[in-house]
Amino acid sequence: MRVLSVASEAYPLVKTGGLADVVGALPAALAPHGVETTTLLPGYPSVGAQVKRAKIVHRWPKLLGVEARLLKGEIGGHPLLVLDAPKLFAREGGLYGDAMGRDWPDNWRRFAALARAAADIAIGSRFDILHAHDWQAAMAPAYLRYDRATTKSVVTIHNIAFQGRFEASVFGELGLPASAFALDGVEYFGGVGFLKAGLAAASAITTVSPTYATEILVAEYGMGLEGLIAAREDRLTGIVNGIDPAIWDPETDAALPARYTARTLAKRRANKRAVEAQFALDRSDGPLFTVVSRLTWQKGMDVLVECLDALVAMGGRLALLGSGDAGLEAAFHGAAARHPGRIGVRIGYDEALSHLLQGGADAILIPSRFEPCGLTQLYGLAYGCVPVVARTGGLADTVIDANEAALAAGVATGVQFDGVTAASLTRAIRRTIALHASPGCWQTIQRSGMRADFSWGTSGARYARLYSDLTRDS
Ligand code: ADP
Ligand code: GLC
Repeated sequence: MRVLSVASEAYPLVKTGGLADVVGALPAALAPHGVETTTLLPGYPSVGAQVKRAKIVHRWPKLLGVEARLLKGEIGGHPLLVLDAPKLFAREGGLYGDAMGRDWPDNWRRFAALARAAADIAIGSRFDILHAHDWQAAMAPAYLRYDRATTKSVVTIHNIAFQGRFEASVFGELGLPASAFALDGVEYFGGVGFLKAGLAAASAITTVSPTYATEILVAEYGMGLEGLIAAREDRLTGIVNGIDPAIWDPETDAALPARYTARTLAKRRANKRAVEAQFALDRSDGPLFTVVSRLTWQKGMDVLVECLDALVAMGGRLALLGSGDAGLEAAFHGAAARHPGRIGVRIGYDEALSHLLQGGADAILIPSRFEPCGLTQLYGLAYGCVPVVARTGGLADTVIDANEAALAAGVATGVQFDGVTAASLTRAIRRTIALHASPGCWQTIQRSGMRADFSWGTSGARYARLYSDLTRDS
């Protein structure tokens, strides 16, 4: 089975969020099931710089109007293709916008080109499956459809909030037949919808947790696409993300001053000291909370800001690593200024520090309003950094709340709460502080999380099964 996996990010070459971790992990997750995955990425400067000894394997004189080449290299020992189109991807700034956070005005052309290239490659190289991740790749199944290709396709929704919506005026440049501008095609609320087009065309749709798969059937979570998803529900499955043990394992993690296992939890203390030093925090007996997150409304960060005085008053401390909305960044800086020694804030993106926080803090706060899967709670579970999460999406599916029954049975792995409000989050923080005050109980929770299996084993098998079911269908 040969699969072309198309995305705008893949760890370790280029990452802004969990999408990259998942796309980067899939080739190794699928290989044991007889699936050979080739990853196709845009040729951002950082990608080109890291791909050694790349060979040119194809040229497009005009791909969505620009000259492009296809380079072949490797990612983690698996085949990698890079769409080298300097006019589209060789620019300073972010992946999706400029340094001020404004979307690139030609995003429609950049990601239509990625998708057009993907469809050409899938057809020309006879891949069994084209697997498109999120809106940036979602036009690829639409191109296959209007080319009348027989290649099967999968669209995975990592986050339905990002849909790739553009003005109707771009339609004429997409290279699609006029009939594609239709309700069951690429037309979306009078404009063009890339994710919409992919969902309408795909042979199968997946999302990254079973709970999110049911949530997106209703308007609150479906964000305009709920009708289409409901109409295609027979094609929809939720497959929860795994974590890559080569990157996230506290026993071998090079970013930790002290490595440890579920049997040697006491060693975490050295990591906690390192966090306290880096964030200028006082030592104290109360729990050290952490946040490693995009600072956005989705992640409930505005609600967390409201709870910080209470968190400190109850004896907690916080070390936060994140970046995002300027207003939220300022609010967290303000809280740190009000509570020196109790709240430390690092605005920015720092992969090594994110590992240290998971390996040193006691608990990780994830009050998301919606969360398709979420990876930081999985890293927290693996590292004995107890997740405190809103009961939504993948957070609901992967954390077992420390209620009385779960505690009595010794299976609790974290704390869940309903409704992302300051009152409910403050209650969850209070519960966490009470659990932490009982060391035996706390260690049982930590160990249950560390022993839970969030490797890619089961989910890798589910993707492989989905692919083989599709290739059997005709
Ligand atoms: P999302 O993709 O919605 O942002 P996930 O929980 O799926 O959420 O994935 C987030 C990924 O990005 C995780 O690997 C997390 O550790 C990482 N991350 C988020 N913010 C930062 C940051 N400021 N520095 C380093 N890593 C970060
Ligand atoms: C998205 C989602 C996140 C998920 C990640 C990887 O960024 O917001 O919940 O874990 O994709 O699938």
